[in-house]
Amino acid sequence: MEFKIRNYKSSDLDKLYEICLKTGDSGKDASMIYKDPFLLGHYYAAPYAVIHPELTFILTKNEMPIGYILGTDKSESFYHKCEEFWFPKLRDKYPLPEHNDDSPDSRIIKLIYNGILPKLPKNMLDEYPAHLHIDILPEGQGQGMGKKLIFTFIDKLKELNVPALHLEVGKRNKDAIKFYEKIGFKQIKDYEFSIVYGMKF
Ligand SMILES: CC(C)(COP(=O)(O)OP(=O)(O)OC[C@H]1O[C@@H](n2cnc3c(N)ncnc32)[C@H](O)[C@@H]1OP(=O)(O)O)[C@@H](O)C(=O)NCCC(=O)NCCS
Repeated sequence: MEFKIRNYKSSDLDKLYEICLKTGDSGKDASMIYKDPFLLGHYYAAPYAVIHPELTFILTKNEMPIGYILGTDKSESFYHKCEEFWFPKLRDKYPLPEHNDDSPDSRIIKLIYNGILPKLPKNMLDEYPAHLHIDILPEGQGQGMGKKLIFTFIDKLKELNVPALHLEVGKRNKDAIKFYEKIGFKQIKDYEFSIVYGMKF
């Protein structure tokens, strides 16, 4: 068993979609929840890898991708890049669901129509401009690799002179909350269903 962290290649994209789906129910497999297996990845993984391949890192076990970390150094301009380069073709593909349709697929399609709006108000976004997503399949969890992925991502942000980052986690994902707190993230915003954590470097 050998874990490695390496840079992203475009041939990893299918695996990103798969890992995103298999960890998409508050850290557990969401395959049975979504009819369209690509929706979660369209929103939470692929746009980052496509727009920021230099900020996307892959965790492999015996050369097979089993996890990733990805994100952006500037959440505000990332929103605009997604509006220009990523969401238009998805909005063509997926019609906007009815307002009262709250099925899991519809919920993500509605997010696709909202875009990746920053999770912090402007003043806090200036303080914590970067954000990330991290997902590891069960076979790679609990062995120190999440922490290594986070610090690989932070080292890259430091190279880019980024001072701090934030991330959002659903309140149902208790394990991820314990993980973020253990590695030094501080709670900076409390929403009804999620918490935003921040870290300054
Ligand atoms: C959350 C996740 C990224 C954590 O990565 P991981 O590789 O499992 O965590 P690590 O082994 O690197 O743990 C790092 C530290 O956090 C602690 N930790 C991790 N999970 C914990 C938990 N559930 N409870 C208490 N401590 C925990 C570890 O004990 C370790 O502490 P140490 O540095 O003192 O040894 C990973 O489990 C995962 O991808 N889960 C599924 C997807 C998900 O929930 N993603 C986050 C969405 S917001």
